[in-house]
Amino acid sequence: MLKRVPVSQLRIGMYIHELCGSWLDHSFWRQRFLIQQDSHLSRLRDSKLEWVWIDTDRGLDVEDQAQPMARAVGRRDGGRAQDADAAGPADEVHQAYERARGVRDASGDVVAQMFSDAQLGRRLDVQQAERLAQDVAGSIDEHPDALLSLARIKRADQYTYMHSVAVAALMASLARELGHSEEQVRLAGMAGLLHDIGKVGIPEKILNKPGRLTDEEFAIVRRHPVEGAAMLREEPGIPPEVLDVCLHHHERIDGRGYPDGLAGEQISLLARMGAICDVYDAITSNRPYKKGWDPAFSLGKMAEWTGQFDEDILAAFVRALGRFPVGSILSLTSGELAVVVAQNRDAPDAPVAKVFYSNRLCQYTAERRIDLSAPGCDIRIVPAVKPVDWAQSGLNLPSVVG
Ligand SMILES: [Fe+2]
Ligand SMILES: [Fe+2]
Repeated sequence: MLKRVPVSQLRIGMYIHELCGSWLDHSFWRQRFLIQQDSHLSRLRDSKLEWVWIDTDRGLDVEDQAQPMARAVGRRDGGRAQDADAAGPADEVHQAYERARGVRDASGDVVAQMFSDAQLGRRLDVQQAERLAQDVAGSIDEHPDALLSLARIKRADQYTYMHSVAVAALMASLARELGHSEEQVRLAGMAGLLHDIGKVGIPEKILNKPGRLTDEEFAIVRRHPVEGAAMLREEPGIPPEVLDVCLHHHERIDGRGYPDGLAGEQISLLARMGAICDVYDAITSNRPYKKGWDPAFSLGKMAEWTGQFDEDILAAFVRALGRFPVGSILSLTSGELAVVVAQNRDAPDAPVAKVFYSNRLCQYTAERRIDLSAPGCDIRIVPAVKPVDWAQSGLNLPSVVG
């Protein structure tokens, strides 16, 4: 049962169903979670929130006196199995997804906390960001698609945090593809986590505005790299490369970007990587006012935008994600549609996909996974004359992490 309770009555073992307030009022990126530790409680009490909804079927009730954790955790696990984005097929894949889910949740929390700290003028926990960047890199190494697929899922109220996590995962993947050292991969991930920290100064109504921004609003948005860099400059532990990505991830190779109008190699390698990862995640993400573009379609579009990106790095990005990245819709020679759920590194044109729709019958089918690179598989991808943006087609897509 859902109950609206004051924050002062919350205890460890209660399950938060919804935080009643704007994302600027608190430092959690998740709306739903089990209160497991004192730090959760103190962050709730330190926030501007006064009320929350709790779910008494998944955690303690206000009246419950019983020892909370065993019961609450048990219920939480039970609820998890029903999550729409529950994990992958085989055991090891399942475990990799579970670990990636942990990295995603922890990263989302840390980014949310850093936004909150920045807003209050507090010190950022740089070491925690460094540790998480390490975990992001580790997750990408273990299963390159797990974190990338999980970070694609974004709710409106957590967009800015999860966009940062997604850019971190994309940056780490791209750095790996470019053969960077461990240290550089970690720096790339950290730069992804922090690149938009300057957005903390942008009013929410501008950040989430459904329509076109006015010139005045656009000018406010364009300040975030400079403001973010100014914040990071105050932090003694921030590596200069991370600060540079924050300042220059909106520069363009042709010099028409901002804030400094740098061109070509005046823009650092990491900032050129940041520009690609940032735009890719932004255009492929659903927002309240637009559906995200299909990932494969997006790569095609980005390749057409001459002058915006470093072409060599974009080519490496396509190699890292595959020509049909996770979440792309494929039209198959079997007359069906499928969504890509994993890459085959040795066969970039033949990923693993989940069939979900019959073009012949014009109806959804029972979902089934196919590995297009498997020796006996005679189903092929139908090459599109023009890239098709399936995201705009109105199809209900199955989960890419199930
Ligand atoms: Fe940005
Ligand atoms: Fe961004």
